[in-house]
Amino acid sequence: MALIIDGKTAGADIIANVTNAVLKLEASHQRKPGLAVVIVGDDPASHAYVAAKSRMAKKCGFHSVQHTLPANITQSELLSLIARLNSDPEIDGILVQLPLPKHLNGEKVIQAVLPEKDVDGLHVVNAGKVATGDLTTGLVPCTPAGTMLLIQQIHGSDLSGLNALVIGRSNLFGRPMAQLLLNANATVMIAHSKSRNLPSLARQVDILVAAVGRPQMVRADWVKPGATVIDVGINRVAAPEKGEGKTKLVGDVDFEEVAAVAGAVTPVPGGVGPMTIAMLMANTLNAARPKGCA
Ligand code: GUN
Repeated sequence: MALIIDGKTAGADIIANVTNAVLKLEASHQRKPGLAVVIVGDDPASHAYVAAKSRMAKKCGFHSVQHTLPANITQSELLSLIARLNSDPEIDGILVQLPLPKHLNGEKVIQAVLPEKDVDGLHVVNAGKVATGDLTTGLVPCTPAGTMLLIQQIHGSDLSGLNALVIGRSNLFGRPMAQLLLNANATVMIAHSKSRNLPSLARQVDILVAAVGRPQMVRADWVKPGATVIDVGINRVAAPEKGEGKTKLVGDVDFEEVAAVAGAVTPVPGGVGPMTIAMLMANTLNAARPKGCA
């Protein structure tokens, strides 16, 4: 049976450190980190994620604001909100929840956020820093950064000699995840919807990271015995065993099957999810720190 990687505890440790640092920042500089979360439309899953982010920001002692906008907002209305938040001295971090409704140009909105307030790490300046191996002067995307910490719990900070496969190539996760693994000296493959023979690629690696959005796609026979398997998926599926009309959350990995083969595996929920929120808080604290303050 694999070691079950506990993202809940790791995330709680980060939150405790952030909360302490906020108290120190308030004592030394009379200000608290400010996080603005922007959500457009009424997708229930996005609203649940955003509510959790806003709640955690308050728990950390941040100045936390949420802008909930109707689905029919125009691009220029959204861009003027971003401009206002960019110039608001009380706001250190801006997060625009994705995906945005189809009529909006998400990429333009993301690139309109000042890089130093881009706590999602999606601005080309921050993405470029990660891609060139600069992990210290910019903001690193939250889910890849949190995933990396879980991988380091198992393998340490130097992944020399280890093979890794990231399934998924999004700007939000797959691409930066691959860059972070590469930066830690892993030998990295990226697979995506056009890749062939996914199970045989997966069976070659010591670190398998799944971010595809397909419930329980990764099965036991995809996994090299002893490998570390990281499940980034969050899928809501029917759970008739819990009663009629009930649902449950599952990842992209068939946990029961894979736990019998892997060396270590993250559960869903309680794996990567809590790390994403914790790293968002850490990024916001870093964005708020006066330059030169460790
Ligand atoms: N939608 C799903 N995950 C994320 C995330 O980490 N950041 C943003 N902005 N939107 C998301």
